[in-house]
Amino acid sequence: MQVQDIPILRYGEANRLSVRTRDEDNAELGPNDVRIAVKYSGINFADVQMRLGQYYDAPPRPFVPGYEVSGVVDAVGSEVERYSIGDEVVAGTYFGGYTSTLVVPAQQVFPLPASTSLAEGAALPVNFFTAYCALFEMGRVREGDRVLIECATGGVGTLAVQMARYAGAEVIGLTTSPDKKAYIEALGARAMTLDEFYADESAANFDFILNASGGRDVKKQMNRLGLCGRIVCIGINASVRDGKKSTLRLLWTALRTPIIPVLALFNKNRGVFGFNGLTVLQDPVWVERLTGKLALIDEMGLRPHVDKIFPAADVAEAHRFLETKQARGKVLIGW
Ligand SMILES: NC(=O)c1ccc[n+]([C@@H]2O[C@H](COP(=O)([O-])OP(=O)(O)OC[C@H]3O[C@@H](n4cnc5c(N)ncnc54)[C@H](OP(=O)(O)O)[C@@H]3O)[C@@H](O)[C@H]2O)c1
Repeated sequence: MQVQDIPILRYGEANRLSVRTRDEDNAELGPNDVRIAVKYSGINFADVQMRLGQYYDAPPRPFVPGYEVSGVVDAVGSEVERYSIGDEVVAGTYFGGYTSTLVVPAQQVFPLPASTSLAEGAALPVNFFTAYCALFEMGRVREGDRVLIECATGGVGTLAVQMARYAGAEVIGLTTSPDKKAYIEALGARAMTLDEFYADESAANFDFILNASGGRDVKKQMNRLGLCGRIVCIGINASVRDGKKSTLRLLWTALRTPIIPVLALFNKNRGVFGFNGLTVLQDPVWVERLTGKLALIDEMGLRPHVDKIFPAADVAEAHRFLETKQARGKVLIGW
């Protein structure tokens, strides 16, 4: 059968991405695998970083990026009982998600949640698991907490704000784009630009902070934690500007990301976490544990916001849209 995908052949700017067509052998379907006719592939900020060659977890080139898809099951392995041909599903992948046909172990597939459209489904795996782990497994956010969510207009941030609000927290969402404050307010949080936040010293005493910038912002934000406050670091956005590759910027951001000695945390009564979804979701125990949490999507009434769906042929434009901060919520590729 013919399959289309979008490989990273050379690192660089978005215009290096394009669709490739190849023949795939049907025999590749193992007994515990599910084959999905992909309708939508989710784009994540990490995909931009891997396209630039700035993502140390990525496999060697050439490889197909992409961590998540939604679509319809069109073949199942001989041992698979949970899924049948025609089921609408969502799947998480360890790379390889920018494809029109995906073969994945059934363990990485889950049914489309009842309240979710197929497009919204492709916006769930990475964003839900990241926000859930950061807020609740690490951060233990609960009612009455003061919560700060950086990158609140992104895919992760959109769900993180909703989850924290559901838990009964008071939430401030940060953006670097003043015109996106209304988007954050519509999610139920108070919105501030990063500049406004740093200028307002009364925005402090947080119980939980979700940091996405890395670099010197980690320290600056840590200083806004209250007693027993937790900061979970999930990204190093500061290492990328306008989707351009810069080894110097990457190094500079890494150098300015603090190394924190445990003894320095004692008197401050703080917790600092780092989160990497790829490692958590490669552990079978955690995959099962987290898959069990998917029911929370309906229970909490979580709604990913799909901003724009680009046809696969326009993948370069889709990356540009994301990396130039035009997106509110999630950007998808449609097949
Ligand atoms: N550790 C993990 O396992 C894991 C998993 C998922 C995501 N993450 C990290 O979480 C963060 C959010 O990811 P996401 O996929 O939700 O983000 P996203 O949807 O791609 O968010 C894009 C938004 O990020 C903001 N932004 C801040 N700095 C930026 C920069 N240098 N270049 C472009 N946009 C920038 C912009 O919003 P404003 O205009 O509102 O500022 C932009 O619209 C990223 O750092 C990502 O690497 C980590």
